[in-house]
Amino acid sequence: MAQPLNLVFSFVSLLGVVAAQGYGSGSSCSNTLKPAYPAPSLAPGFEAQLVATNLTKPRGIMFDTQGRLLVVQSGYGLTSLQLNDGGGGCVSVNSSHDVVVDSSLNHGIEMTADGRTLYASNPEAVYAWSYDPSTGSTTSSNSSIITGMSTSDHTTRTLLLSKKVNGTLIVTRGSTANIDPIAEAITSGHSQVKSFNLLNQTHTYNFDSDGRLLGWGLRNDVGVDEEPLAGGIYTVENSVDQMNRSGVDIHENNPGEELNFLGYLNGTTYAQQGANFGYPTCFTAWNVSAIPNNTGLQLGSPFAIGDLNSTNNDASCASGTVAPRLTFQAHMAPLDILFNPAGTTAWVTFHGSWDRTQPSGYKLGAVSFATGSPTEPSNSSTALVDVMTNADNSNCPDQCFRPVGLAWDSKGRLFMSSDSTGEVWVVTESSGNGTASATPTAGPGAGSGSGTSGGGGLASSSPVKGGAWTGRERCSIGMCVVALVAALLI
Ligand SMILES: *[C@@H]1O[C@H](CO)[C@@H](O)[C@H](O)[C@H]1NC(C)=O
Ligand SMILES: *[C@@H]1O[C@H](CO)[C@@H](O)[C@H](O)[C@H]1NC(C)=O
Ligand SMILES: *[C@@H]1O[C@H](CO)[C@@H](O)[C@H](O)[C@H]1NC(C)=O
Ligand SMILES: *[C@@H]1O[C@H](CO)[C@@H](O)[C@H](O)[C@H]1NC(C)=O
Ligand SMILES: *[C@@H]1O[C@H](CO)[C@@H](O)[C@H](O)[C@H]1NC(C)=O
Ligand SMILES: *[C@@H]1O[C@H](CO)[C@@H](O)[C@H](O)[C@H]1NC(C)=O
Ligand SMILES: *[C@@H]1O[C@H](CO)[C@@H](O)[C@H](O)[C@H]1NC(C)=O
Ligand SMILES: *[C@@H]1O[C@H](CO)[C@@H](O)[C@H](O)[C@H]1NC(C)=O
Ligand SMILES: *[C@@H]1O[C@H](CO)[C@@H](O)[C@H](O)[C@H]1NC(C)=O
Ligand SMILES: *[C@@H]1O[C@H](CO)[C@@H](O)[C@H](O)[C@H]1NC(C)=O
Ligand SMILES: *[C@@H]1O[C@H](CO)[C@@H](O)[C@H](O)[C@H]1NC(C)=O
Ligand SMILES: *[C@@H]1O[C@H](CO)[C@@H](O)[C@H](O)[C@H]1NC(C)=O
Repeated sequence: MAQPLNLVFSFVSLLGVVAAQGYGSGSSCSNTLKPAYPAPSLAPGFEAQLVATNLTKPRGIMFDTQGRLLVVQSGYGLTSLQLNDGGGGCVSVNSSHDVVVDSSLNHGIEMTADGRTLYASNPEAVYAWSYDPSTGSTTSSNSSIITGMSTSDHTTRTLLLSKKVNGTLIVTRGSTANIDPIAEAITSGHSQVKSFNLLNQTHTYNFDSDGRLLGWGLRNDVGVDEEPLAGGIYTVENSVDQMNRSGVDIHENNPGEELNFLGYLNGTTYAQQGANFGYPTCFTAWNVSAIPNNTGLQLGSPFAIGDLNSTNNDASCASGTVAPRLTFQAHMAPLDILFNPAGTTAWVTFHGSWDRTQPSGYKLGAVSFATGSPTEPSNSSTALVDVMTNADNSNCPDQCFRPVGLAWDSKGRLFMSSDSTGEVWVVTESSGNGTASATPTAGPGAGSGSGTSGGGGLASSSPVKGGAWTGRERCSIGMCVVALVAALLI
């Protein structure tokens, strides 16, 4: 008995050295926050640490130019967190102050690159404030820059300022219901993504009648980002619940969630920019064999909902609507997409399902990109690599983190909000490098021999246990060994 125990102790003391390097400062980290639910599982080579708790439904997050973390607390307002930074994952909240207290703010947040204009959204409008980076406070009352969006159900309006085309703001707007017939009219503004030129704005824009249409028939594309190499706009879409086809309930594994490509903002022609992406009549196949009366659909094909007839069928969907670039497992609820600066990885949060017997989603994953496009073909079921998952999805939603917003800090560390648990996490590489340079290739559990790489794939409805390492003192011995070996190799 003594021998194995000694082995364990020496691993632990070695780990202490590795961890101290990993956390940069060499001194011990005073942040001991732990989740009130089972520790998340991390892919080999990654760590996650809780940074903040007790927030009110944190959704969109971003850093100001002085390194304060701005958090939209849905139903409360916009709060600024001043962080203590011990390096690596050793990050904690030093102090916080409210920037805008307004209970209507619910998700969207942006800021100009100079850090002097702040934007946030509620279901009705996008607002702008003058912001002083030296104090972290607004210096003006709000002005409404885009209005006319009040609707029910899907009420977040995600904001993204282009880094390629100065002064262009993208706003995404979802549907008013699971199936929203009004979205069939291009004039409705429902289920659309538009861009607005703020450079010489002379009047308050109306979402429906102003701006440039980047795509319609986009049910609820909460996540949006600009690919940094070519400047293409990608969104992630939450697709329909309770789907029927030819009288058969097919909702368990259909339709898939979507990664859509909406073209460029710099004037480069892209024929499908502004086109119809299908909703509320056409959706995307995930499990083809569960779709009755299909002739030759493959994963990623557009297909028709409900009863088929001469105008509602898969051929009309294929010819009349734009298919996604990638498709993910049904009901995972993607809420954010964030590219790394090199354009090699898109990080995607999946808030998690309610409309599925086996919960899906509830995780952070990564999609590989090269020269502006996903490296996997559009019919791939394995384009998503899981990085941070809940140890057991059968505990979800109650005993799970539910990821929402993503943000890079100036050191390339990935920050992630979880609304249901009131948390912000930081995800780092065990090597000490910022996550921004990482290229995830295998999901949690891969290091313990029960791999689910491509955890978004058809085969894995719930992640595998055993890869937990959330903070340096808490890892299974197996993962500590894996991490130690990985650390010694570099
Ligand atoms: C969170 O709030 C609860 C209840 O108010 C309190 O007991 C707890 O100490 C808080 N935790 C932190 C980390 O602030
Ligand atoms: C922490 O907050 C205190 C008081 O607001 C401030 O004096 C100190 O500089 C802050 N430390 C960091 C690291 O931000
Ligand atoms: C914007 O300002 C108006 C007028 O002061 C105020 O009524 C409203 O609550 C503010 N909205 C936000 C989102 O701050
Ligand atoms: C971008 O636009 C802002 C005004 O919105 C202007 O102050 C800034 O100089 C512009 N930057 C560049 C690089 O053109
Ligand atoms: C300003 O707006 C006009 C139309 O209102 C447009 O033609 C022009 O290109 C805009 N200028 C810039 C710099 O965006
Ligand atoms: C606009 O973006 C496209 C795609 O990345 C690129 O090929 C083109 O050169 C860009 N045009 C300008 C004027 O920057
Ligand atoms: C599917 O059919 C069920 C039972 O008729 C119905 O309750 C549900 O609303 C239908 N789903 C859609 C998306 O129309
Ligand atoms: C796909 O659907 C078929 C038919 O409903 C079902 O038998 C099969 O288990 C499903 N496969 C997966 C991986 O969900
Ligand atoms: C379509 O599928 C349903 C259910 O599987 C079946 O009852 C019906 O006969 C099929 N209709 C056609 C035209 O194939
Ligand atoms: C086909 O089905 C669609 C959707 O249910 C319906 O709107 C349309 O009227 C139908 N067309 C015909 C010719 O029956
Ligand atoms: C995916 O599509 C390609 C053609 O684009 C085809 O060669 C391949 O067999 C398809 N893969 C699957 C799994 O259907
Ligand atoms: C850290 O990142 C740099 C580039 O950002 C890369 O060259 C290096 O290989 C990375 N180191 C590890 C251990 O991943």
